[in-house]
Amino acid sequence: MFKKIGVLGAGTMGNGIANVISKNDIQVIMVDIDKDNLEKGYQSIQKSFNRSVKKERMTESEKEDALKKITISTEMESLSDVDLVIEAAVENLETKKGIFAKLDKIVKDDSILSTNTSALSITEIATVTERKDKVIGIHFFNPVPMMKLVEVIRAAETSDTCYNKVSEFINSINKEAVKVNEAPGFVVNRILIPMINEAVYILQESVASAEDIDLAMKLGANHPIGPLALADLIGLDVCLAIMETLHQELGEDKYRPCPLLRKKVRAKQLGRKTNRGFYNY
Ligand SMILES: NC(=O)c1ccc[n+]([C@@H]2O[C@H](COP(=O)([O-])OP(=O)(O)OC[C@H]3O[C@@H](n4cnc5c(N)ncnc54)[C@H](O)[C@@H]3O)[C@@H](O)[C@H]2O)c1
Repeated sequence: MFKKIGVLGAGTMGNGIANVISKNDIQVIMVDIDKDNLEKGYQSIQKSFNRSVKKERMTESEKEDALKKITISTEMESLSDVDLVIEAAVENLETKKGIFAKLDKIVKDDSILSTNTSALSITEIATVTERKDKVIGIHFFNPVPMMKLVEVIRAAETSDTCYNKVSEFINSINKEAVKVNEAPGFVVNRILIPMINEAVYILQESVASAEDIDLAMKLGANHPIGPLALADLIGLDVCLAIMETLHQELGEDKYRPCPLLRKKVRAKQLGRKTNRGFYNY
């Protein structure tokens, strides 16, 4: 099993993933090119652990133990001795391909490279490496410490050994793995993000207010959170990137990103992470 794991990207997802892994018998190194984001990510983990101690979900010594397992760095080269990398950088195909080409040269020959991409082709990302059989999708959900599901996504050349090792790891950290054969948006986002996009169209057309759209879906469809509040949690830039991938890859008008979603992203109103999205925070 994996002894040391690298998490690349310390944003919303990266710090959540490092948080969860550090509670197991595994060393974690979290890397981000942006020093401020790296420090913010580490502080988010500390804050999350402090909340858990307060709520008696974790003891003070468990918190200290978990924090001791996390190291941080701005250098990708510090991932040279990890058994698995989970990449959680921005949702952009060219950026991810650039990262994987570099990682392929840095990590050990038998290390597995994975991406937390929301919708991009893992098969295409794998093409820039010399280890296509050891490239896989590990798709966590936000907020990572709370969400049980992980989609484990097989690309065209992912080996059975790699798939089995990763699934076993996911189960060992107390998450539930679902096996997915690569397709745009995988399972959850193929269903969820078009629904969020439709909610944005409804808002754009003034059919109802943001509050009422969310209330309607909470009370009428029994969703724990409304689609617009969920979009703010995910990040509007991430939602737009996923819609664009679905639209490009599947080519159908039903996947057209809503102009209001595009406008919000251009205005940098990205949701909770910028304190403003469909709601103010
Ligand atoms: N936000 C969600 O709800 C969610 C859920 C599941 C999957 N994802 C996916 O996870 C990935 C990360 O999303 P996020 O919401 O955490 O984004 P984010 O914007 O919060 O964080 C991305 C981080 O990556 C860093 N980064 C950018 N380029 C880098 C590079 N070359 N090397 C190292 N670090 C780099 C940035 O500095 C930033 O800190 C994306 O692929 C996204 O689609 C997001």
